[in-house]
Amino acid sequence: MDQYRILIGGIGDDAHSVGISFLQLGFKEAGFYVKSLGIRNSLDSFFKHLPDFDIILISNKNGHAELYLQEFPKLLSNYILRDDSKKLWYLGGSLSVSESDFKIKKRFINMGFTNVYPKPIDFLQILEDINKNIIKYNIPKRSNYTFNKQYNSYPKINYDLIIDRKLTEEELTAQRVEVLKEYETGKDLLFNEVAHKSHCITLDALLWNRKVRGGAPLYQPRTGVADIELQIDLLRFLKEAGSDVSSVQLDSASRAKLYDTAKLGLETSKIRKNSVLNGFPIPVYGVKEVQRLVYALNNPFQLRAGGPDHRFTYEIALNAGISGFEGGFICYLLPYDKLTSPLESLRNWQYVDRLCSSYESKNGISINREYFGVLTATLIEPSLAIVVNIIQAILSAQQGISSITVGYAEQGNRIQDIAAIQTIEEQVNRYLRRYKYFNCRVTTVFHQFMAAFPEDYKKAEELILNSSITANLAGATKVMVKTPVEAIKIPTKYDNAKALRICKQGASLAHHFKVDTRKLEVEKRILRMEVNQMMECIIELGNGSIAKGAIKAIENGIIDIPWSPSIYNMNKVTSVRDVDGAIRFYDFGNMPFSQEVKSFHLDKVNIRKDMERDPSIFSLIEKDLTRIWKNDYKTWPLDNSYIN
Ligand code: 5AD
Repeated sequence: MDQYRILIGGIGDDAHSVGISFLQLGFKEAGFYVKSLGIRNSLDSFFKHLPDFDIILISNKNGHAELYLQEFPKLLSNYILRDDSKKLWYLGGSLSVSESDFKIKKRFINMGFTNVYPKPIDFLQILEDINKNIIKYNIPKRSNYTFNKQYNSYPKINYDLIIDRKLTEEELTAQRVEVLKEYETGKDLLFNEVAHKSHCITLDALLWNRKVRGGAPLYQPRTGVADIELQIDLLRFLKEAGSDVSSVQLDSASRAKLYDTAKLGLETSKIRKNSVLNGFPIPVYGVKEVQRLVYALNNPFQLRAGGPDHRFTYEIALNAGISGFEGGFICYLLPYDKLTSPLESLRNWQYVDRLCSSYESKNGISINREYFGVLTATLIEPSLAIVVNIIQAILSAQQGISSITVGYAEQGNRIQDIAAIQTIEEQVNRYLRRYKYFNCRVTTVFHQFMAAFPEDYKKAEELILNSSITANLAGATKVMVKTPVEAIKIPTKYDNAKALRICKQGASLAHHFKVDTRKLEVEKRILRMEVNQMMECIIELGNGSIAKGAIKAIENGIIDIPWSPSIYNMNKVTSVRDVDGAIRFYDFGNMPFSQEVKSFHLDKVNIRKDMERDPSIFSLIEKDLTRIWKNDYKTWPLDNSYIN
């Protein structure tokens, strides 16, 4: 059958993969031949495939499009010299962190793009536009052609290289010398001693006090701009506005270890007096400057990033006085990366944990480690997040870490979300004890909804308020705060201050709400069963090594994260919402669940299918991925109102 051919992929250091997979599904349904390159492609890889395709969609969701498309006009004009057949070029996502939509559109259309979508838009609109241009430019259908299947074929993992014990000081030092050579700012640490002092209460102490004393959760907004003076001003302002923890997001170029790109981004930002980076470039600044930032605030400080190798950046931050670090070998790999092997990621994160514990014993400053239980943020059934947190907690404890924060992202069904937070704490403690780690301080972090946010400001505010109520009812230790402009732009300090106010209002209202304890117990019971069935399987696969068990579990699809861009992820598991908005498995892939667990999920999914009179799973998933950002739902949380 002849088909129009479409090539889809993400550009540069961007890790967002859900939109790409979704477009792939959508265009397939619409009858196109689709090839997806997944995330993290150079322009060269698009041009390499160009002879076989007529329509090219480039996705960029992190606002760094300009940084990664600098070579586009040159590559395009070179290509046209060899092949001048008409190609349709589309660019879309969230393309810039500071420019107006008009300016962005003009910039990229001038470069040669057929059309540009600076902000997320409806799939049908893209489809219509492409169909119009197909006619306008007389784009041909082409005959079937089999391409090499790239996915799920990966280099074999050598299990003999898995270490499952605390790294020695010598092993740490040997690796450290190499890691610190990654970028010029590492010299500060190779040859100079940095003076350490505890400048304020640590994140560990703050979290644990809150956990022990109880009360409303701590609230933490996200920030990150290129310029250090603006960064200081921003965090001081937010502390005044009631933020309990100061933190920065690492910019995506630094996350992908593209330090020179991050430096270019910093310089451009200074010239334009506006950040072109989507976070704060810690490695470019180096220890002394980051220390100036940390000491400018009398608040515990955390670094958040997203990628499989932050050994260099985290050491800079550690020595600058930052006392909290997010990340782990699974949670910063499967949602963020395409090609890195789980073995390599495991070794990087064992190193980070060991570095933190070594620093802790030398300086007497306790270091907190937190895990990104959000995963891909997209229809994540809680047991997946819980299992990933358990494995990473055991691995951190093994390297000598005792302050551990386990994470989960709100999905929108209040009972399920409360059950998730309570079960994650209970089960992480249970498995830590089983592995004889009796002295860990485990706290929880609740992420306000992390998938595509409602575009309507009022609905976004309502979500944040009710999400804060859920976090309070669940007894979460900390909340990662979203803002009402989440769908529109990176928040300003005023947006974040507003969100903090809404969250605190939620905390004061929470006692008016009753939780149905019977329903809560049903959800917790099913989660415990799922977690225990997966953990038993992982422990058995590892035959005495939890690290090996986890890696084999990823390969075998026992741990299978929906919408992951990693070639190591099985990608068989599918989940959808039920009629109450709770996340249920539809396809279990290779997950080792009992019949009781499977029937529980399938019954819920069938009720939804019946009520929607819609047997197509694609159309159910499409609704689940788009209804929230399109504001097409009644109330948040979704309990009792998602389908009726
Ligand atoms: N400043 C503020 N918020 C940020 N986020 C990511 N980077 C920044 C930044 N530099 C927020 C996004 C999203 C979440 C993942 O983090 O708005 O909600």
